[in-house]
Amino acid sequence: MTAQVRPLEPGDGSRALRPVILVVDDEPGLRESFRLILDDDYEVVDVPDGPAALDVLRSAQVDLVLLDIRLPGMDGIEVLERIKALDESVEVILVTAVKTVRTAVAAMKLGAFDYLTKPLIVGQHPEVQKLFRLVSHVSRTSTTVLITGESGTGKELIARAIHRQSPRRDKPFVAVNPAAIADTLIESELFGHEKGAFTGAFQRKLGRFELAQGGTLFLDEIATLRPELQAKLLRVLQEREIERVGSGRAIKIDVRIIAATNVDLTEAVARGGFRDDLYYRLNVVHLAVPPLRARREDIPLLVRHFIRRFNHEFGKRIDGPTPEALAALCAYGWPGNVRELQNVVERSAVLVEGASIGVDDLPMELSVGAPGDTFSEAVPLNEATDRFERQMVLRMLDRVDGNVSEAARALGIHRNSLKAKLARWKIRARDLRSGAQ
Ligand SMILES: Nc1ncnc2c1ncn2[C@@H]1O[C@H](COP(=O)(O)OP(=O)(O)OP(=O)(O)O)[C@@H](O)[C@H]1O
Ligand SMILES: [Mg+2]
Repeated sequence: MTAQVRPLEPGDGSRALRPVILVVDDEPGLRESFRLILDDDYEVVDVPDGPAALDVLRSAQVDLVLLDIRLPGMDGIEVLERIKALDESVEVILVTAVKTVRTAVAAMKLGAFDYLTKPLIVGQHPEVQKLFRLVSHVSRTSTTVLITGESGTGKELIARAIHRQSPRRDKPFVAVNPAAIADTLIESELFGHEKGAFTGAFQRKLGRFELAQGGTLFLDEIATLRPELQAKLLRVLQEREIERVGSGRAIKIDVRIIAATNVDLTEAVARGGFRDDLYYRLNVVHLAVPPLRARREDIPLLVRHFIRRFNHEFGKRIDGPTPEALAALCAYGWPGNVRELQNVVERSAVLVEGASIGVDDLPMELSVGAPGDTFSEAVPLNEATDRFERQMVLRMLDRVDGNVSEAARALGIHRNSLKAKLARWKIRARDLRSGAQ
């Protein structure tokens, strides 16, 4: 249990210079992330559980403990109690994935100094660790950042992490995706408009730039911006001021820009679809998020992370995937990256009845052909048919966002017969709706 602990000798010279922070978290990726963020200014010691934390506290001087609430064995609250019994003066900040008032109150009563929601992103692959280091460096500045990566790799998550770790954290984080806004409205969405600026402009409206004043503006899918708006954006970045539509008056803005794209901007520039001068303005710091298939080592970590999360959300006690299911998860290509993985784990967590997620609880594109799947085993035909049917139905429900009538229609069966099947499989369609979390 003493893995990675570096107890400090009494009188250690560095002790006087750098405060010591003890990180207690069972997730290796999170310990590593904390280390990356804190390493420059603090002496960081990390351990995976409560007993190891208490060992460190007995043998070394610690100034602050960052304590995960949900730990295996002895939970965070109990560890907090014991830490305070050992040394009343140690400050403890509880770290949690989900904030609940009840635990917060309990924690404060027991003398916790503060309460922190987990800000970090899961991943251990060297490329990802390099990315986290960059994130923590750029967080301290107001530099414009360009985040590139395939869909679902975590670009927005990273943009939010930068904001949250930056001195602007108490000001707004405003996201805007021009691809999701009607062409005619984009300019007014970005820059706002005055009353009467155009037909339908009944009152003054602030644009996203102004709403983000003092904070961070996240410009998503930047490559979809029309040429005319690219020119306007360039001018805003140069002048650091905007004009509301129909105003003509310049307003100073202090906004940090983070742009994201899932297409190759250099290629768009070469094709003439994106202004090169704007590209250079945005590309001050470039964060490239690797696709999941290029960092398969992170898959087991992410799976564990999502299982913990969905266990909590669905009140389940799934301990993990079976070795065969994990192998199938690691072998898959993940075109939809972390978002797809998250959806797969969520769906399996909803469906699974036993303690672990098996190959047959995975969607067909992962399970077919995997060792231990229905089709490589000698199972009775009716059982295989049933599993196949279940997968077909699930896939259709996913596609129609849990709408039973629509799924029944698409599958060419009666709604009642679909309902009967769902009841037999103990599937609740509403759990499969995207907003169901
Ligand atoms: N490293 C990670 N750890 C935990 N969750 C992650 C990680 N990366 C991504 N996710 C989760 O995956 C989902 C997709 O992430 P996000 O929306 O940031 O991706 P994106 O790159 O912006 O995708 P798109 O290009 O489709 O907009 C989110 O629910 C996010 O929380
Ligand atoms: Mg996104």
